[in-house]
Amino acid sequence: METEKKAPPLSAELTLVIPTFNERGNLRELIRRVDAALTGVDWEMIVVDDNSPDGTSALAKKISHDDPRIRCLRRVNRRGLAGACIEGMLASSAPVVAVMDADLQHDEAILPKMLQKLRAGCDLVVGSRHVEGGSAEDGFSARRAAMSRFAHRLAKRALNADFSDLMSGFFMLRREIVEDCAPHLTSSGFKILADIVASAQKPLKIEEVGYMFRERLEGESKFDIKVGLDFLGLMLNKASGGRIPVRFIFFALVGATGVAIHLATVHLALLVPGVSFTLAQSVAVAVAMTSNFFINNVITYRDAQLKGLGPILRGILYFYAVCAFGAVANVGVATWLYNLYPVVSISALAGVIMGSVWNFTLSSLFVWRND
Ligand code: GDD
Ligand code: MN
Repeated sequence: METEKKAPPLSAELTLVIPTFNERGNLRELIRRVDAALTGVDWEMIVVDDNSPDGTSALAKKISHDDPRIRCLRRVNRRGLAGACIEGMLASSAPVVAVMDADLQHDEAILPKMLQKLRAGCDLVVGSRHVEGGSAEDGFSARRAAMSRFAHRLAKRALNADFSDLMSGFFMLRREIVEDCAPHLTSSGFKILADIVASAQKPLKIEEVGYMFRERLEGESKFDIKVGLDFLGLMLNKASGGRIPVRFIFFALVGATGVAIHLATVHLALLVPGVSFTLAQSVAVAVAMTSNFFINNVITYRDAQLKGLGPILRGILYFYAVCAFGAVANVGVATWLYNLYPVVSISALAGVIMGSVWNFTLSSLFVWRND
């Protein structure tokens, strides 16, 4: 061996958790910069890789062989940024953990300042693109910037938290906070920070440090519309106090679009000469159910999406059957309640809720089985 390695410290004060998917081209440069930024700090790094096809984990393990501060957690048959971050943090035994992207968009130079704030008694320090000294101008397209602002406004309301970069993927906190709330965290999507804040078992002392969000060094972003939907779902779930499942919220929203589509179809069909109301209503039922099926297939059940002609046809037929029974349940409950208390809107609403819960439960069981 040509270079003599420093003896590893007995235990690290700070664990950097680096989630990776196809980041082979960025890893060495990331480690070099982190090492330079954190002189004098006992740090270690856990690279959590979801079996990247580009061989990121093999490279991480190779580096680890020479530098024991670097470790790699290779996950197979699983994807998800949040889950990777959670598992990385739970694999640490250091008092402080930080999460940072591998693509060098996050500025490692602020790590010492973040650590300083934790040492001074803060619970969570967020690397922020929105406070003084921070910026997202360089790393974001205009569309991404607008989406980020919208998500942030929504999250601020849902979480009732008042720091500026809730969507940040760059933060440092006491490990015990994650240990305490880990069972309540969701492992899909990009919303890990907002989720931790919403799930923390006690109020957190939060501070921010600004930084410039840079352009990605190598490779490409994995942020897409599904990630955005995922975030929206979590915020709606938190806004309901966590009582209504995310999937049901989407199912109900899709149902509402079905009602609009139904009404539009009835009106359109009646424009055709000779079409009776009964025929128009029947056509509208079929159109609305079909559109509900397809929208649910890409949004509500996107993780169990039916693909290919056979599965889709089978799915539609099952969905029609489920909805038919749902309609019976709807009318049954509404009638029963109306006979007890003859208030039209309450009975009708109860029927709609009953029908939706029925449709949702059976759809989850029979139409989009996740196996
Ligand atoms: N293990 C694992 N599994 N890592 C992943 C996955 C995954 O499924 N998806 C993405 N990553 C890693 C990437 O390799 C990268 O290191 C980091 O997570 C961020 O992913 P990017 O794809 O580069 O995200 P981005 O730059 O578009 O999004 C940035 O802004 C978001 C907020 O708007 C990031 O900073 C996010 O962390 C942040 O939430
Ligand atoms: Mn990135």
